[in-house]
Amino acid sequence: MSFDRQIKIAPSILSADFANFGQEIQAIETQGADWVHVDVMDGHFVPNLTFGPMAVKAFRPHVKTVMDVHLMIAPVDPYIDAYADAGADVLTAHVEAGPHIHRTLQAIRGAGMKAGVALNPGTPAEAVAHLLDLTDLICVMTVNPGFGGQKFIDMTGKIRALRDMIGDRPIHIEIDGGVDPKTAPLVAEAGADVLVAGSAVFKGGSVDNPEAYGENIRNIRAAANGVWA
Ligand code: DX5
Ligand code: ZN
Repeated sequence: MSFDRQIKIAPSILSADFANFGQEIQAIETQGADWVHVDVMDGHFVPNLTFGPMAVKAFRPHVKTVMDVHLMIAPVDPYIDAYADAGADVLTAHVEAGPHIHRTLQAIRGAGMKAGVALNPGTPAEAVAHLLDLTDLICVMTVNPGFGGQKFIDMTGKIRALRDMIGDRPIHIEIDGGVDPKTAPLVAEAGADVLVAGSAVFKGGSVDNPEAYGENIRNIRAAANGVWA
C-alpha cells in the first residue's frame, strides 16, 4: 500500500447482498472502488451484528485492492491476530472501545497491518493527539456507528483540526457515514482523502447491474474533487 492524498472511494459491503459477497466485491472493484470497507460489528460495542474473522478471511481472495477492516467491537485485542490471519490490510479500532488504544495500535502494527483509529461523533480530535506516531489512518465517524443509511453529521471542524494535527505525517483521514455526492465535497475540502460509502454506492445497482455502482462511485469522486458530474 503506497501513501497518497488523492480521493479514494471505499464502498462499505454492509450495503451489499449478504448472500453474494464475492461477486459484490468483484463488481465494486471492477466499477472503480479504490478500497473495500468491511464493517465488523459485535452487538455489544454497537447495537448490530455482522460478521467475524472467518467471513473476512473468505472475502480476502476476492479483494484485489485494499481490504479496510473497521472493527466496531470491544474488546479488540483478543481478535487482532485473527484479523491479521484473515488478511486485513488496514485494521481500525475505536478509541472508545477500551482503555488501552495505544497498546492496541502497537499490536495491530506488530501483527503486520496498517493501524487505524476511529472516533465516534462525540469524541474530540484531541483523543488521538498522542497516537499519531502509531497510526496510519484516522476514521472520523459522521454517523453513530452500527447501521448503514443514516443521516450525515457534520464533523468538518473535527476533520480540519485533525488535518492540522497530522501535518506532513503519512496518515489518511477517512470519513464513514452518510457520504454521498452532497456531503463528499464538504469532507474532502476539510481534508479527508478516504471516503467510505455504503448506501450511496450500492443504491440502484446489483451484481446484474453493476454499472449503477460505477456511476455512483464516479459521482461521489467527482463531487469530492470539485467536479460535479
Ligand atoms: C456504520 C458503518 C459504515 C456504514 C456506512 O456503522 O461503519 O461503514 O456502512 O454506510 P452509509 O454510507 O450508508 O452511511
Ligand atoms: Zn465503517
